[in-house]
Amino acid sequence: MFDSKIIIKSREDIAAMRKACRLAAQTLEEAAKLVKPGENTLAIDTFVHDYTIKHHAIPAPLHYHGYPKSCCISINEVVCHGIPSKSTILKDGDIVNIDITSILDGWHGDVSATFYVGKPSKEAINLVETTRKCLEIGIAEVRPDARLGDIGAAIQEFAEGRGFSVVRDYVGHGIGREFHENLQVAHYGRRGHGLRLREGMTFTIEPMINAGDWRLRILDDDWTAVTLDKKWSAQFEHTLVVTENGCEVLTAFSAPLANSVTPAGFKL
Ligand code: MF3
Ligand code: CO
Ligand code: CO
Repeated sequence: MFDSKIIIKSREDIAAMRKACRLAAQTLEEAAKLVKPGENTLAIDTFVHDYTIKHHAIPAPLHYHGYPKSCCISINEVVCHGIPSKSTILKDGDIVNIDITSILDGWHGDVSATFYVGKPSKEAINLVETTRKCLEIGIAEVRPDARLGDIGAAIQEFAEGRGFSVVRDYVGHGIGREFHENLQVAHYGRRGHGLRLREGMTFTIEPMINAGDWRLRILDDDWTAVTLDKKWSAQFEHTLVVTENGCEVLTAFSAPLANSVTPAGFKL
């Protein structure tokens, strides 16, 4: 049965995963400092690659199903899986998601955040801060006996209540020794429906929220997902484990991220 393939992690497994997740979060904290107008996305990818190797880890995206780079960098109307390139230059006012997955001692940690390049517009702030909140409220639903539908419903309600749409084509996923394990976390759904969560399950929540319609298309490179209507999209992601009372965010940051701080006085 589908559910029986979900791998429950032991205390030792979680301790090992925590290390991979900490490294992924730390790599993102450092990569965040490179986000500025004029920077090309290949330079960020090269930093992520070298930092990962220096810490005795492997960048999971590299060669994953043929993916050519070490992380995904997705600007504005790119929803996810943007491929870093020397000719892709960050410019003032852009929003950019950097998605990093590290493999350390055979375990995966997957984390992403959306950053402001220079000075953001009000519309950009509204989209990014709504998406940040979507991840937070999704995480707040996680505890033993909660249902996957509770997570999706909470996120969908919040995003749609603010006039945004939730991407359907990509979902959060089980994670552990594999990058994508057998559990799917839709960021939309119905309360009380779906898989029942159990202590020791490890998965990501990674809502992609669009300013316009949720529909996407894939560019000719076979990876880059962009919104059909070219309106902007934001995403945040954490890897977490279900604990006795709730959950532990394994990819938590040690300090607020550079260039991804909620503007002072901003209220949703
Ligand atoms: N990090 C992405 C996720 O959150 C997956 C990227 S797959 C890649 O699941 F091949 F594009 F790296
Ligand atoms: Co990711
Ligand atoms: Co993921």
